[in-house]
Amino acid sequence: MSEIIAIANQKGGVGKTTTAVNLAASLAVAEKRVLLIDIDPQSNATTGLGFHRSDYEYNIYHVLIGRKKLSQVILETSLPTLHIAPSNIGLVGVEKEFYDAKTKGRELILKNKIEEIKNEYDYIIIDSPPALGSITINALSAANSVIIPIQCEFFALEGLAQLLNTVKLIKKTINPKLDIKGFLPTMYSTQNNLSKQVFADLKQHFKNKLFRDEKSSSYVVIPRNIKLAESPSFGKPIILYDIKSAGSQAYQNLANSILAG
Ligand SMILES: Nc1ncnc2c1ncn2[C@@H]1O[C@H](COP(=O)(O)OP(=O)(O)O)[C@@H](O)[C@H]1O
Ligand SMILES: [Mg+2]
Repeated sequence: MSEIIAIANQKGGVGKTTTAVNLAASLAVAEKRVLLIDIDPQSNATTGLGFHRSDYEYNIYHVLIGRKKLSQVILETSLPTLHIAPSNIGLVGVEKEFYDAKTKGRELILKNKIEEIKNEYDYIIIDSPPALGSITINALSAANSVIIPIQCEFFALEGLAQLLNTVKLIKKTINPKLDIKGFLPTMYSTQNNLSKQVFADLKQHFKNKLFRDEKSSSYVVIPRNIKLAESPSFGKPIILYDIKSAGSQAYQNLANSILAG
């Protein structure tokens, strides 16, 4: 049975793509069959894995508009068990097309497409755009669960209520099985008191929805780590760029926590 995990937060720059790419790669290194689906028009997960626009003809846009099957756009990556369904800026048009067409069941398009290939993967990770529009709604409707990255900076929890309401609404109307897998503190800096404050707030409100490190049983927290910021420019997940870095270790801990169930 494959597990489908959406990475979502309507705020930009909180670590969604970094989490999607590095969680997917860490699971793949643990010999799981993983599909990363990039449904952000900014395509950062696609470029972060080293793909350029000229490398692929079709992308998730063509899947969502019904021109291609999901299996027809999937690319292999440098990790043997990691595949990616790439995105492209053309995806910007989808929100509008969905809306204009008032397409019936448009929330379920991605879910139906995933259904066709689901059995070929252990994990399907979906990187979503920084908005709560129809693309993110498709991601949340297709997923078994959602990971919400929280940047350990000022205004971290701003907008969270709206996101949680959206999750609740989707659970109630479209996808009763949708679960919050967990909140993931990202870009945590030990020198920054604000980081500590945000983490303390998370612990206070969502203690049982934080990931636990399998070995130490401390919480999984993604540190602010320059290697994590550098690796996409080399087209590599952190585990292939600097496996020993604190950022790589943290994402491996996240993967282990998920593998442990
Ligand atoms: N833990 C981290 N340490 C340092 N830089 C990070 C970390 N996580 C993300 N970044 C950087 O912050 C920026 C925003 O992260 P990204 O994952 O693209 O966020 P989102 O997908 O939510 O917009 C990117 O430049 C990324 O490389
Ligand atoms: Mg992103």
